Amino acid sequence: MGVGIAHAFASSGHSVCLIDVSGEQLAKAQTTIAGILADGVRLGKVAQPAADAALARLTTSESVTAGAAGADLLVETVSENLAIKIDVVKKAEAVMAPTGLLATNTSALSVTEIAAACVDPTRVIGMHFFNPVQKMKLVELVRGLATTDEAVAIGRDYVAQLGKTAIVVNETPGLTTSRMSAMAGNEAMWMLQEGAATAEDIDTALRLGFNHPMGPLELGDLTGWDTRLSVLHYLHATLGDKFRPCPLIIKMVKAGRHGRKTGWGVYKYENGVKVPGSGLKGTNL
Ligand SMILES: NC(=O)c1ccc[n+]([C@@H]2O[C@H](COP(=O)([O-])OP(=O)(O)OC[C@H]3O[C@@H](n4cnc5c(N)ncnc54)[C@H](O)[C@@H]3O)[C@@H](O)[C@H]2O)c1
Repeated sequence: MGVGIAHAFASSGHSVCLIDVSGEQLAKAQTTIAGILADGVRLGKVAQPAADAALARLTTSESVTAGAAGADLLVETVSENLAIKIDVVKKAEAVMAPTGLLATNTSALSVTEIAAACVDPTRVIGMHFFNPVQKMKLVELVRGLATTDEAVAIGRDYVAQLGKTAIVVNETPGLTTSRMSAMAGNEAMWMLQEGAATAEDIDTALRLGFNHPMGPLELGDLTGWDTRLSVLHYLHATLGDKFRPCPLIIKMVKAGRHGRKTGWGVYKYENGVKVPGSGLKGTNL
């Protein structure tokens, strides 16, 4: 994820230092970013000199202390582990510009808790990007308990510079996107389990009725029902019974039918392509 974010900032004129403990990841990241820029040039979306300039603005470091020295912004995208994130943010805070913004891309951890480990929690904010970063226009800015209006304004300004749209959300389980998506996917599974309609018809309803690019069952197959289930367990525990996981999801996960990645979820997939008419039907359940 950090790779896409580094590409976005470098492409919009910022000097970026991409930091990782793994030199191998850094080498891979540079190749990936060069590839995204080359694709942009080939498709006529980026001029060659602009792509060259973006690459030239990108450096790498295996040390947070060296890489973040003097920085105005840190976007932390290390593994989803609170202790690792706190360690990185504290090291960065000690060397960044005194007014620098400390942003975390965490999907589910508490911005407030990460901020509480910092000397100045007022300038810590969530900056939640979506994959693939070069295509997805939304960034959720997350206010922790101490995040100031000024920090939110700075965050908004950075997001605008990337040509993306920010929404602001108070720290809450699932933010806006994961919470809505979990609810829609769970409800679609309840409908399927009750035999309200076929999988194909439920997905078609949301695609054609609401102009969603993908139906909720297709999206669950893409995300993976195992991942969906763990998000639902978390939302159920934190937000209550409306997020109680549909038993059909639990049954599918037990069966190893996780979705596209296992070749079979609500639909079957052959060579990555959905098999027409393969959707679960209420009568099979
Ligand atoms: N993958 C997604 O679609 C997605 C979407 C939104 C948010 N996020 C969030 O982004 C973050 C990263 O997710 P990911 O999927 O890219 O994870 P990942 O495991 O693919 O990458 C994490 C990277 O962090 C590096 N790292 C680990 N410890 C480090 C340290 N102490 N210092 C420097 N680098 C360190 C690892 O080497 C690895 O390259 C998580 O907080 C996740 O919740 C991910």
